[in-house]
Amino acid sequence: MSTESNFNPDKMKNLVTLCKRRGILFQSSEIYGGLNGFWDYGPLGVEIKRNVKEAWWHDMVQSHNEMVLMPGAPSKFEMVGLDCSIIMHPQVWKCSGHYDLFHDEMVDCTETKGRYRYDQMLGRWAECKGQKAFITADPKAEDAEQEIHRRAMKFFNLRAKDEGELKFTSDLTSLTTLDDFSQVLAPEAKHVGTLTEPREFNLMFKTIVGALGTEENAAFLRPETAQGIFVNFRNVVDSTRVRVPFGVGQIGKSFRNEITPRNFTFRSREFEQMEIEFFCPPEESRQWYEFWRNRRYEWYLKMGLSGDRLRLRDHEQAELAHYSTGTADIEYSYPFLQPGEFGELEGIAHRGDFDLRSHMEGKLVAKDGQLTLELDENGKPKHRGSGKDMSYFDDLTKKRFIPHVIEPSAGADRATLAFLCEAFQEDQAPDENGNMTSRTVLRLHPRLAPYKAAVLPLVRKDGMPELGAELYGELKEHFPCFYDEKAAIGRRYRRQDEIGTPFCVTIDSQTLVDGTVTVRDRDTLEQSRVKKDEVAAFIEEKIKK
Ligand code: GAP
Repeated sequence: MSTESNFNPDKMKNLVTLCKRRGILFQSSEIYGGLNGFWDYGPLGVEIKRNVKEAWWHDMVQSHNEMVLMPGAPSKFEMVGLDCSIIMHPQVWKCSGHYDLFHDEMVDCTETKGRYRYDQMLGRWAECKGQKAFITADPKAEDAEQEIHRRAMKFFNLRAKDEGELKFTSDLTSLTTLDDFSQVLAPEAKHVGTLTEPREFNLMFKTIVGALGTEENAAFLRPETAQGIFVNFRNVVDSTRVRVPFGVGQIGKSFRNEITPRNFTFRSREFEQMEIEFFCPPEESRQWYEFWRNRRYEWYLKMGLSGDRLRLRDHEQAELAHYSTGTADIEYSYPFLQPGEFGELEGIAHRGDFDLRSHMEGKLVAKDGQLTLELDENGKPKHRGSGKDMSYFDDLTKKRFIPHVIEPSAGADRATLAFLCEAFQEDQAPDENGNMTSRTVLRLHPRLAPYKAAVLPLVRKDGMPELGAELYGELKEHFPCFYDEKAAIGRRYRRQDEIGTPFCVTIDSQTLVDGTVTVRDRDTLEQSRVKKDEVAAFIEEKIKK
């Protein structure tokens, strides 16, 4: 487990700049000033994110071999996929609990009209000339302490030379520790006491289905892909030959009206999830939970995240939902997080039979350690389930049961961001004159790199471009490839390094003589001489690892 800090605002700034400059990520609707919490992937970004999703889909769903017992698994199992609609029957969200419970508490500032997540507001008590105030930082501030200091100086009208008059009487603390807000200076506000009491704010985006436009036709954009899998449990069992234990994978967009979207794509309002709902017999669920928890952690390591920056954090008993015997988060120390802080990349939850039973019986709640139907004030079920049988009959053991669920739930955007942060490095490499100078390199796993190779004729004459174009056409049949004949060769290498191309194939004068080319390795900078006709196989062998 890691304790290493990766905090590096400059690195983050440089990565964001690179993403914009090289077409990896753009602010959504940028020409209109952007829309907070929404992002567009550019021509290279779309390839990287697709590669992340395809690697996940391939490794978890498509290439899964149900005939083989995987290390650590209690038994063999099957995997299938689904692609469900984003808008579902509103009753889905009532039974899942999202309608009543999926909310954040927020506070509004009556002076600036700013809106903030209550649990994310940090501040410090400050005193000056007998006056006291709780000075907050904007949750988006890079350095909260520095921002609070700056704001306190301004609020108490102090010049730099009078700094000694200012006293901070508390460390950085959450707004949630305060009983009253009358002395709170909200972010960007000039006066204290402008924050409202916390209010609940449902995070689901609402829309209207159909032309009538009435509230009765209200529906929601899904806040998670998981529910599509639960409500199709019967369909999958009835239409395929899967037997419990089996898993269903789904990749797709989810939407949450986050109060404070921030940290690049980390917390967005529209994002993609890669979720598995794994259905198993109740008595095996603990073992399956352990299996998935470890397997998913290993996957990130295999795809290039460093063990120093990745950790698997088991939730404390008190953090667990009543029906869960375990939940673990896979967390990454993103460079925008303060030293010691980690951000969630994926959650692996043991969900018991909560979801299938809720969709069968109606919305469940915990009472005396048991799940029971939630009733309204008249003693009627608060939200009715579908009434459909969600149990499973095992024809080998002749037992009928409601399967338990293990849910590894990952974010495609958060994973892409973690891979980009990990890959973004500045090191030294020889330039076109052979001098070691600094270079920016994206050391992406070859499976994630947008192009696997670039074909670069050394000069634009002597038939080299023609040979290059021919080789380019051939390599493109095998993997995504880029052709570039403009600028000095050293500059062209650098341009490929910073977008993560693992191999550069150069056509030079020797190619004209013996038909060999050089293949330059992005990471080791080694150059191998390879026959032109063997380049595709040479690179394919290296990128398949
Ligand atoms: N079905 C379970 C579920 O949705 P979650 O922890 O709320 O669990 C799972 O979300 C994953 O989805 C997170 O670990 C994260 O990677 C991603 N995710 C959640 N909210 C997100 C947001 N606002 N922006 C980007 N990714 C998000």
